[in-house]
Amino acid sequence: MTTDELKLFQARVAALRINPTAIAGVKIYGGNGGIIQNSKGNEVSLQIYAAITSNDGYISPAGAKKGLAVYGNSLRGEAKDRQGSHPEIDRLEKIARSRQAVRCDIYRRESSRLLPERILRALPEALKRYPTPFYIYDEQGIRDTARAYKKAFAWVKPAYRNYFAVKACPNPHIVNVLKDEGFGADCSSLAELVIAEKLGMQGEDIMFTSNDTPAAEYVKAKRLGAIINLDDVSHIGYIDKNAGMPELICFRYNPGPLRKGNDIIGDPRESKYGLTTDQIAGAYIKAMELGAERFGLHTMVVSNMLDEQYLEETAVMLFKLAAMINHDTGIKFDFINLGGGFGIPYKPEQPAIDLDAVSAGIHGAYKKYIEDMGIGPVRVVTECGRAITGPHGFLVSKVRHVSVKYRDYVGLDACMANLMRPALYGAYHHITVLGKENEQKDRVYDVTGSLCENNDKFAVNRPLPTVVPGDIFVIHDTGAHGYAMGFQYNGKLRSAELLVTSEGQVRQIRRAETVEDYLDTIENWL
Ligand SMILES: Cc1ncc(COP(=O)(O)O)c(C=O)c1O
Repeated sequence: MTTDELKLFQARVAALRINPTAIAGVKIYGGNGGIIQNSKGNEVSLQIYAAITSNDGYISPAGAKKGLAVYGNSLRGEAKDRQGSHPEIDRLEKIARSRQAVRCDIYRRESSRLLPERILRALPEALKRYPTPFYIYDEQGIRDTARAYKKAFAWVKPAYRNYFAVKACPNPHIVNVLKDEGFGADCSSLAELVIAEKLGMQGEDIMFTSNDTPAAEYVKAKRLGAIINLDDVSHIGYIDKNAGMPELICFRYNPGPLRKGNDIIGDPRESKYGLTTDQIAGAYIKAMELGAERFGLHTMVVSNMLDEQYLEETAVMLFKLAAMINHDTGIKFDFINLGGGFGIPYKPEQPAIDLDAVSAGIHGAYKKYIEDMGIGPVRVVTECGRAITGPHGFLVSKVRHVSVKYRDYVGLDACMANLMRPALYGAYHHITVLGKENEQKDRVYDVTGSLCENNDKFAVNRPLPTVVPGDIFVIHDTGAHGYAMGFQYNGKLRSAELLVTSEGQVRQIRRAETVEDYLDTIENWL
């Protein structure tokens, strides 16, 4: 492993921030197998196993080598005190020497990821009134998170704002809850602009961040007075010609090799978004020549980032860039948009980010690079989606079939058309089998849907209690980029969305699609 690879892996382990106390144990299969129970003294081993095990439950030889490179020495050190034997590190070394990936199931403590009380209380009524599958959202949870963001960034003058990324959960009822909390809307398409408009948002309540944008969307955004965020230098002339240069304009910055991105969003150098370091100052000058008078700066370089330091570094990058552009062009920024991408802990053993600490770090950078450089005040804003609604949405689905083949399968009445993240990114979503929270997880299943695609799986090799048809599965953390990514392949219909209101009432906020909806856009066939 090269030093760079080692650094990258160490950074990944740090970013995963695995808390071993939420792991009940790990089971490794095969000749070198065995069970490592979570007992005092083997936290580091559990952390390493959890860090190198893929979401579908395997450790590859390369993964084992990486794990050894990070922790091998310290564990070997411990082993010396125990007469040179260290079963967990021995096992890893065997996997590293072998040629094939080894199954490794991580058993998580259910108690570390319980369903919120409000959802638990609402589910019996919801299940009585509405057929599965459905999404259910916790309004009070969303409000509490919105308030935590406002509180953490209260130092921002004149006032912090999160422009909720509508694409994360494009249900107008949810966007309205966030409007009520004082959030703006970050829109990326005509439909999202229309949602914001119909909710009575206008002017600088709306941020329009799109790419490969059609003229009509710029025209609409300009008519609404939205803050328009341009994704490319060529769009300066394009918007001027088609909609007129707005008085306030923003540019999305792509730092290329200066930042590394992450697994979901990718390497900035390969990203289609934003203006390069060489392009950005000139873009502001050109916009100014065309009549722009006020300016914003934006970036979005990560997705689901749990590494607090990385989030701070993004702010430092933008603050320094703002100072540089100010130096080169003389323009003063109205606002700096740090983007979204604040992560949530999908796995029970991952602690949430310490938002207050992240905000304090960003505040420190603001003082150093904005205030002390004499270019303040600049309003700091974000456009988080996942962090706001993600943990407060749940996909509820019923078990149709349990089948035993080369593996054991649980077939749900939801499929990847309802929740695509596991198939798309191999994403982990925690699963609670309702009413079986305290049962032993004595079986390992692939949890599937009914789509004719073998990657239609919500979980692979997932330790669960014994499941029977009719059991209710609650899939956690699906309040963002969940329903929103739904599609209709195989004639699968989008589910309903329910809201548990702050008063504890269950309200349907979007009905399920019907076959009539599915066929509604076809013309002249009957
Ligand atoms: C431009 C932009 N802003 C904000 C977001 C929201 O990201 P997240 O939900 O991870 O905060 C996205 C997500 O794709 C995005 O593309």
